[in-house]
Amino acid sequence: MKKVYITSNIPDVADELLREKFEVDKNVDNKKLTKKELIEIGNTYDGLITALTDKFDADVLSQIKRAKIFANYAVGYNNFDIDYVKENNLIVTNTPEVLSDTTAETAISLLFAVSRRIVEADNYVRKGKWNGFSPKLLLGKDIHSKTLGIIGAGRIGKRFAEKMRGFHMQVIYHNHDRDLSFEKSFNALYKPLEDLLKESDIVSIHVPLTKETKHMITKKELALMKSDAILINTSRGAVIKEEDLINVLKSKSIYGAGLDVFENEPEINKELVILDNVVLTPHIGSASIETREEMAIMAAKNVLNVLSGRRPNNKVY
Ligand code: GLV
Ligand code: GLV
Repeated sequence: MKKVYITSNIPDVADELLREKFEVDKNVDNKKLTKKELIEIGNTYDGLITALTDKFDADVLSQIKRAKIFANYAVGYNNFDIDYVKENNLIVTNTPEVLSDTTAETAISLLFAVSRRIVEADNYVRKGKWNGFSPKLLLGKDIHSKTLGIIGAGRIGKRFAEKMRGFHMQVIYHNHDRDLSFEKSFNALYKPLEDLLKESDIVSIHVPLTKETKHMITKKELALMKSDAILINTSRGAVIKEEDLINVLKSKSIYGAGLDVFENEPEINKELVILDNVVLTPHIGSASIETREEMAIMAAKNVLNVLSGRRPNNKVY
């Protein structure tokens, strides 16, 4: 019987599906696996469901001889050395589409948490500071009728735009390629990155992390933003040079930021946690009960297909 290992504690639907045909083990304690453990697992099992925290660099991948499929439990796959994967024709799959709505909803949650200071307001009430309605208490910023800048109009970025329709915003976007049908259906305008940053009231980032997008946003780009703009990131932390963003938030040269992803997860820069103009969440972009189950089914099916000699549905390139 072929053997499958699941490297993180994903919903049990995956194990249930796979157990029909394979022997399945799972890292139920969600313990972070070392490089050595990843190699050992890759040489003990025929298929893996991997986590975005497992770093499969060329060194690790080159020492794995047995595993035939790496089904990443995420849409992003920057935890793999993708050049190595391509050169060696390895099978890596991801979980696209099933999490697009949920991740867009996370971006929207962060956006409103920042614009209307929801976390600050909640703390204010809990700490017993409220002593009556006050006309200037915790004033925030409106979102409706402003300019929404989307960096990365892929599946998630487009879903974000779609959900924001009711707020009657002018949508502008920056993307690898122009998307004429998106432009048409959203009355969206394509902009070079610099112009998007200058013109947007809200900037939301939805690009994958690649060599090209790493540190796409540094102090030079942040300096172009409006002084009352809001920046949301639900993609990958390293798209933004975090240190530069912290300086911008400290000097209040933008209104605020909402961050679900960080450069050195799970480490959070200590300067971030003392700032009021940023809302922080622990990489929960796709973390709804429904979506995490869908992702588990999708990853399991990719493993099932490959280990049964069929093509996987979601090979990454
Ligand atoms: C989560 O960050 C994902 O890439 O699915
Ligand atoms: C991710 O799936 C994206 O295309 O935004």
